[in-house]
Amino acid sequence: MNSLLWPVRSTLASKYVMAVTGAGLMGFVIVHMLGNLQIFLGRQALNDYAHHLEEVPTLLWIARAGLLTIFIVHIVFGLRLWTLSRRARPVRYVYEDTVQASWASRHMLLTGLVILAFVIYHLLHFTFGLTDPKDYKYALDRYAVPMDPALHPELDVAEMVVRGFEKPLVSIAYVVAMIVLGLHLWHGAGSWLQSLGLKNKRTMLLIDGLGAAVAVLIVIGNCAIPLAILAGWRPS
Ligand code: HEM
Repeated sequence: MNSLLWPVRSTLASKYVMAVTGAGLMGFVIVHMLGNLQIFLGRQALNDYAHHLEEVPTLLWIARAGLLTIFIVHIVFGLRLWTLSRRARPVRYVYEDTVQASWASRHMLLTGLVILAFVIYHLLHFTFGLTDPKDYKYALDRYAVPMDPALHPELDVAEMVVRGFEKPLVSIAYVVAMIVLGLHLWHGAGSWLQSLGLKNKRTMLLIDGLGAAVAVLIVIGNCAIPLAILAGWRPS
């Protein structure tokens, strides 16, 4: 039992857990973004991709359960590390000693909580169709939400994304959330390698540079979709 609790008790082990789960989540975000960007190849491309993902429901549910577990473990250990660091330094320094620490690295808890709120909203929006049920892709066949098929001849994932991002408030909320995600990854994308002991004086510049580049590409890639739709672009 004691050995099972070791990762929870040890700060070092907790950092390993954060590094591994963080890398897994970043991998998901990159793959998910590349999948979503297929909307720029046309409606059919995004819909084919979305339908392929659903072809083997057992696999899909195993992947979803795995992702959810990784996400929860990342949050629990993140909160634990944050509490430990507060306990270690209960009184704030009069002069901040964090000249070298970036804003992103000092606000990982805040940006993490904003991402959590975004993911909950995003799932209610696109996965469960609860925020805009009349625009939901499966409203017709899966959940029998009352609607007129004649008014919605093309109800599909691409159409759902377009209808979602046509609303300025929704698009702006996504863009703000993506910038916050970028800030979280700006620090996280480099620090997980540090936690695994792979960052040293020689590799530091390269790893920090790569981390920043990944964060910027994720923000640009993810914001491109709502911004393009808001600007009037429509997939062919
Ligand atoms: C503008 C950016 C994004 C777009 C356009 C987008 C689009 C979508 C769509 C259309 C779905 C439903 C797919 C389907 O059921 O067929 C979905 C699901 C999901 N998205 Fe996103 N997404 C974006 C960003 C993100 C980000 C940044 C995260 C994580 C931080 C994320 C996490 C998820 C998760 C966890 C699911 C549920 C996957 C599942 O049902 O198995 N998304 N997204």
